[in-house]
Amino acid sequence: MEVVRVDYLVIGSGVAGLRAAIGLASEGSVYVITKDELKESSTEYAQGGIAVALSDEDTIGIHFEDTIKAGDGLCDEDAVRVLVNEGPERIMELISWGAEFDRSGTKLAFTMEAAHSRRRILHAQGDSTGREIERVLINKARNMPVIRKYSFAYVLDLIIIDGLCYGAYVLKDGQVEAILAQATVLATGGAGQVYLRTTNPAVATGDGIAAAFRAGAVIEDMEFVQFHPTSLFAPLAPQFLLSEALRGEGAILRNIHKEEFIRNYHPEGELAARDIVSRAIVSEMQRTKSRHVYLDITHLDADYIKKRFPRIYRTCLKYDIDITTELIPVCPAAHYLMGGVKTDTAGRTSIPGLFAAGEVACTGVHGANRLASNSLLEGLVFGARAAAEAVNSRISPMEVSPSDLTLPLSGDRIEDADEIRQAIRKAMWENAGIIRSSKSLSTALETINKWDHVLDKTYSTRYDNEIKNMLQTSYLIVTSALKRQESVGAHYRNDSPPEPHIP
Ligand code: SIN
Repeated sequence: MEVVRVDYLVIGSGVAGLRAAIGLASEGSVYVITKDELKESSTEYAQGGIAVALSDEDTIGIHFEDTIKAGDGLCDEDAVRVLVNEGPERIMELISWGAEFDRSGTKLAFTMEAAHSRRRILHAQGDSTGREIERVLINKARNMPVIRKYSFAYVLDLIIIDGLCYGAYVLKDGQVEAILAQATVLATGGAGQVYLRTTNPAVATGDGIAAAFRAGAVIEDMEFVQFHPTSLFAPLAPQFLLSEALRGEGAILRNIHKEEFIRNYHPEGELAARDIVSRAIVSEMQRTKSRHVYLDITHLDADYIKKRFPRIYRTCLKYDIDITTELIPVCPAAHYLMGGVKTDTAGRTSIPGLFAAGEVACTGVHGANRLASNSLLEGLVFGARAAAEAVNSRISPMEVSPSDLTLPLSGDRIEDADEIRQAIRKAMWENAGIIRSSKSLSTALETINKWDHVLDKTYSTRYDNEIKNMLQTSYLIVTSALKRQESVGAHYRNDSPPEPHIP
């Protein structure tokens, strides 16, 4: 097996991974490995924006309170304090590196999203905020020669020796390489692909969570999966996010009969918290026996819509929906995993040498339900923090000898891989989705357990290992959801509705 030695290994090239790599670059050589193209991550597809308390009408304290309220009592307050306090500095830094957020005149323009009590969401090119952030971070990293980018390199497992993490085994061009590092930062993103309906890109298969779990890291809060209320639902269209910023700017939800309905479920209407809106849509779909509802933005000025939401406008038009004149068919979809590899506020996991940041991590910042647009900010803030701590608590891989490194690849392919993938996604969507119960979760578990033999091997293709990781991640979501018997935040069990809040 080829052995590569670097100072720092970063796994993942979204906002958290790239920000970590940039932080590490002044301290030694950095490898950023990613299983696809460098820019293929959830960051690239993030539309609505990035929340930060920078507007004249806002304060860090109000951002803190909104985040805590959205998290439904389960946020880690220290982590939230770090997020909201350090957010403005990270954003100003990004602007100094060339990020162009939309402005109104010379001032930054802030939009509204659900459960925010102020307009505090920065956006870029209307609805391509993540793409702009990714562009700036890639450019910055490109100008740092110590950062080496290694694309189409798939992490099979972490290298764990005597309880310490020394890097990762990577599959590249069909061969296994061992990358040894003094510190490893996991920033592999989420796992939306375990659900039939998701806004996440194809790469979001839970690889980092599954690898960390196999390595013995503590994994937390996996029952908390956020479902976005509005993804495009058109027979020939791909699953595509319709940003919450549309509702922030006045879009209205209508049922299949084109009637407004959301206020029948919650007084805050279209801008109630995401979990409430998603559940209301599901209930309305059941009530009206339909597979989708509509999002209506036709009452806004057409030129304004095209300018404010150019990517959404163009994408829908490609599928014959002119959003300036027509209702958009939408349905909820899995969007964000609040749980993941448990870290402290410095990005340390329970395994020395291993750090985590971004969606793969569970800092506790989101509690039971993430406040919209807090995730790009989390990636920046905790990516930078994980880098700083990785430098402080390096371990020495010098004593690791090639004979310590083994990872046998199975020559077998997973039999019926496509069928397994489809069955997991269907079982998770139908039984471990927006509304769950002990009965439905047990059904999902039964389906997952049918293929537990798949977990015993490491495969020689990315596709097969992704299926293994999807199974592992689904198992973690379902077993955590079974354990948490009460409904809280995004975890809603219809066999145990939430306790009434006593003021
Ligand atoms: C959106 O644009 O609606 C997504 C924002 C987020 O998930 O934070």
